[in-house]
Amino acid sequence: MAGTTDTVAAAKRAAGYQAAEMVEDGMVIGLGTGSSVFYTIESLSGRIRDGISVAGVPTSYQTAMRAREYGIPLTTLDDNPVLDLAIDGADQVDPQFRMIKGRGAALTREKCVAAAAFRFIVVVDEAKMVPRLTGIVPVETLPFATKTAMAQLRGLGCRPFIREAVKKDGPVITDNGNFILDCQFEEIADPEALEAAIAAIPGVIESGLFTRFQKNTTVIIGKEKKCSVLTSADVVP
Ligand code: 5RP
Repeated sequence: MAGTTDTVAAAKRAAGYQAAEMVEDGMVIGLGTGSSVFYTIESLSGRIRDGISVAGVPTSYQTAMRAREYGIPLTTLDDNPVLDLAIDGADQVDPQFRMIKGRGAALTREKCVAAAAFRFIVVVDEAKMVPRLTGIVPVETLPFATKTAMAQLRGLGCRPFIREAVKKDGPVITDNGNFILDCQFEEIADPEALEAAIAAIPGVIESGLFTRFQKNTTVIIGKEKKCSVLTSADVVP
């Protein structure tokens, strides 16, 4: 059963705070996007005030603004192409640590940052843990080729919709200047194959399917009072 807003926020806070404890002095880390990572930023800010030295690569304008507000020094993948760890949220995580991300439209930078990190720390509340990935897969597309990409995505068995902005008329424009397609799938039988097939479509920048991070992923599942921590040893084959 889905939790109340307060219990979900408490679970995200517990997970986000626990992730902040995994950051060590001198680390360069990836900072994901969303409400769960916001709590990591908040907690990290206290640890920096207490004396640890950390730099973060933000995955969105929102995260960059929050990190600056909370006193977290920022850097870039140009200056730090290898990260000690990346901390991010997710929308769904299956028992093999395959994920769907991108509710916040930051999926492309999130995937680049996760791929640059030795460890990928995923912070979620319990409701995000699912037996199988299903439903909407966000896909970032070049506006120039969005219509043609939509036709090819339909061929993969989904119904793609251009994501509409809320406080702006027209489509959501990502931090990279592109569109987001929310691709509604009835079933995702083979997430790895689907991620590869979507990536092969001309005009697709990235999809929110993250299927290749099992080996270096730690999932922190927030609960109201404490968290469960799963690592690759817990992946169900
Ligand atoms: C943004 C994302 C987020 O990490 C994901 O949607 C989870 O967000 P939240 O922690 O707010 O539930 O992928 O693009």
